[in-house]
Amino acid sequence: MKKCIAVLAGDGIGPEIMREGRKILDAIAKSFDHVFEYREALVGGSAYDQHGHPLPDETKEICNSADAIYFGAVGGPKWEGLPADLTPERGALLPLRSIYGLFANLRPAVIFSPLANAASLKADRLEGGLDIMIVRELTGGIYFGKSRVQSLTLKEGALQGAYAADYMIYSVPEIERITKVACEAAMKRKKNLTSVDKANVLESSKLWRETVIGYVNKNYPEITLTHMYVDNAAMQVATNPKQFDVIVTGNMFGDILSDLASAITGSIGMLPSASLSETGFGLYEPIHGSAPDIAGEGKANPLAQILSGAMMLKYSFGLNKESDIIEQAIMKVLEGGYRTVDLACDETPGDRVLSTSEMGDKVLECVQKLV
Ligand code: IPM
Ligand code: MG
Repeated sequence: MKKCIAVLAGDGIGPEIMREGRKILDAIAKSFDHVFEYREALVGGSAYDQHGHPLPDETKEICNSADAIYFGAVGGPKWEGLPADLTPERGALLPLRSIYGLFANLRPAVIFSPLANAASLKADRLEGGLDIMIVRELTGGIYFGKSRVQSLTLKEGALQGAYAADYMIYSVPEIERITKVACEAAMKRKKNLTSVDKANVLESSKLWRETVIGYVNKNYPEITLTHMYVDNAAMQVATNPKQFDVIVTGNMFGDILSDLASAITGSIGMLPSASLSETGFGLYEPIHGSAPDIAGEGKANPLAQILSGAMMLKYSFGLNKESDIIEQAIMKVLEGGYRTVDLACDETPGDRVLSTSEMGDKVLECVQKLV
């Protein structure tokens, strides 16, 4: 199989974890006779520094010509003071999601059993492992509501003064299409779907809940559907995560709950994601950010980036076997006791604590043994 991959490493730790992600894809390509052609492009702060824009035309052209986008991370304090439209997040990442219609964000929170002691929960709460699929709506809601209002009258009696506003807007078709993605995922799993909203307060959430109920009842009657308010869902994820199979939720709630879920699995450095359009085009990125505080130090955990590559093989290229091998290789590495600093604990022997590239090499070694 020949595929063209747009490689957007980005800022901070992006380039160093991307190097490891590519190392693994190369090994898979070699062993299975695939050709992955990488087209590198600048994105985020590094693109702004070179071209004056975080998402230059050249980068969009490369993405347009690719079969999938492999993304690292963007952002950092250096670019925080820029006008909003030129920041890495609002000038590049959000536009990429919206240009390519990447409305369905799959964030699997899986616990690799050897990491149970790195997880924030007591082992008995995680017995038998953890495998939650968070399906986050990614191109709507408060992230994309019109963010500047021309005039708005502040509530009478409220403290008057300068203000800012963001609109949380959801339409029925937007809710239905993400619900469909979540249902399809649930059908391949335990057929258990939890929809998370704030329907006791927000109109957009009331519509969300009604729409999800109608859609699931009509199209997927065999799915067990439950609803949770987001505050309760946060508490439940933090205390009793094993009750969840698939979670479907809006953009902002999904952002927050997925960080929380990652902490439960041991480290935010473990969670990959796939952002998919209606046609199946995808962007694959770890859910953690660019971690500028540790950039360039060789401390970053490359596993979420590598796992995002595995998701790309599976969801964009249909290479299930290859994708499974990467996951198995990571399991073997962790079983061998190897850790990056974020995963290490007091008992981890010093010679098992690896740098970013050493971790990539270990995974590579295991991939080569498995193929
Ligand atoms: C994520 C990130 C982004 C988001 C930021 C970087 C804009 O936190 O992918 O979870 O909020 O979606
Ligand atoms: Mg986030």
